[in-house]
Amino acid sequence: MKNDILIPGILEYIRSTVRAKNEDMHDYAKKHDVPSVEPETGELLRLLASVLKPASVLEIGSGIGTSTTYIKQGFPSAKITGIDHNPNRIAVAKTLCIELENVEFISESAVAYLNRTAETYDMVFIDSVKRIYPLMWQTVKSRVNKGGLVIFDDVLLFGMLAMETAEVSKKYRQGRDELLNFIEEIKNDMPASSTLLPVGSGVLLVNF
Ligand SMILES: C[S@@+](CC[C@H](N)C(=O)[O-])C[C@H]1O[C@@H](n2cnc3c(N)ncnc32)[C@H](O)[C@@H]1O
Repeated sequence: MKNDILIPGILEYIRSTVRAKNEDMHDYAKKHDVPSVEPETGELLRLLASVLKPASVLEIGSGIGTSTTYIKQGFPSAKITGIDHNPNRIAVAKTLCIELENVEFISESAVAYLNRTAETYDMVFIDSVKRIYPLMWQTVKSRVNKGGLVIFDDVLLFGMLAMETAEVSKKYRQGRDELLNFIEEIKNDMPASSTLLPVGSGVLLVNF
């Protein structure tokens, strides 16, 4: 689906400024029609990791490892755990990211993984199905270290959050309403520590 949250032309300009291109990852995603973070979202992750210097990172919905690669480029010493319930994607990530050190990819549902572990993290990137974002928030918020950051991707649902209900195609309405409630919930939970950026299809940052 095309990105509808920016005026025409500006996305191409922003993409022309992205530093860590990671073309092999984006080309693979395009060729095999698998999802991966947009280059400008990847660049934001790279920059956030380089500022935050997270010792431990959890990725929920690591896919083929594009977001993992950007985060690692931002802070090469980070220990990254990437979770994805699709074993094929994990297999591809292990191949494409073979040179990244201290990265573990695990094929498991995010809920199952979080329930069976107790680790805490300095940075959590969540890019799974949007339906489980409220559950992910409830589960992850007690697992973030002080000063840490939680990042949710695609929260503006291609601009649909700002549309009237009648303008949104029926198949997206429930998802849109769930995301609106979820963003409200975060605002109430962390009033002064969250912000929504119009990067990619919308990135929500929550600082602890
Ligand atoms: C948008 S893609 C992730 C792209 C990835 N961040 C990247 O940049 O390469 C979403 C991924 O989330 C995974 N996923 C969705 N729901 C999940 C869940 N409940 N637990 C674990 N993985 C999940 C899907 O299998 C899919 O690969």
